[in-house]
Amino acid sequence: MKIIRHPRELQQLCMDWESKGRRIGLVPTMGYFHEGHLSLMDDCRKRCDKLVVSLFVNPTQFGPGEDLETYPRDEERDARLAEEHGADVLFVPEPGGMYDPDHGTWIQVPEMAKGLCGASRPDHFRGVCTVVCKLFMLARPKVAVFGQKDWQQLAIIRRMVRDLNIPVEITGHPIVREADGLALSSRNVYLTEEERRNAPNIHVVLRSAAEKAKSGTTNAETLKRFIRDELAAKVPGGRPDYIEIVDPETLANVNEVRQKALIAVAIFMSRARLIDNFSIEV
Ligand code: PAF
Repeated sequence: MKIIRHPRELQQLCMDWESKGRRIGLVPTMGYFHEGHLSLMDDCRKRCDKLVVSLFVNPTQFGPGEDLETYPRDEERDARLAEEHGADVLFVPEPGGMYDPDHGTWIQVPEMAKGLCGASRPDHFRGVCTVVCKLFMLARPKVAVFGQKDWQQLAIIRRMVRDLNIPVEITGHPIVREADGLALSSRNVYLTEEERRNAPNIHVVLRSAAEKAKSGTTNAETLKRFIRDELAAKVPGGRPDYIEIVDPETLANVNEVRQKALIAVAIFMSRARLIDNFSIEV
């Protein structure tokens, strides 16, 4: 596996692969790999000839007061794991290499970015779309794999790709969970012991809300109230940022669950903000 730090070098190599008819796959990450990231790499590896994994803690998707400086990092371990999981290239750019001092071009999908995580992180998806688009221009992938835990991110990227005719197939990979149900996240390291014990109940609560919907409670407000009460009882110390039921594709709020919907939550613990979601099919 080759470690590349310069965007130009990655672009040159990928253009070369492309000219030889190689199918390039991309897994964009911010590093500090866990099983979730590794399963994205395994999935992408099966869909491509050359696998590029990017490791970049993208400053433009962090808001003021967020954890950009303290975001967990371990490049050496990440490089070893990426290689074990079939990466041909680990792309680790410097922030200055990705953004010129006078960078002024942004990609936004405002309608889909205003709710859910976007409500409390107003510029987050603008940063995500811009960096993902830049990674697409550099790595020229035919396929890119993203986790379904960040469902809003995945839906927005799909829309960006559609709207801008970017020739890449976007694959969403199912959420990878600990044995007790907690969705894997690099930020789980911020949880205290007690929070870690209670956090799996987020998944338990979402699953029982989905069961409730299947057995006939389809009013979104009733379901949201149920989730709020259950979280208060089962995840003490957790403070919901949002509890929403949305259309899985457009992310618009739904009033009544008909056929497919997505329950999405973000819960503040003391230092961590955990997100999770659950698909409902009625
Ligand atoms: O999901 C992430 O880790 C990031 O948002 C991404 C897609 C790598 C863009 O920085």
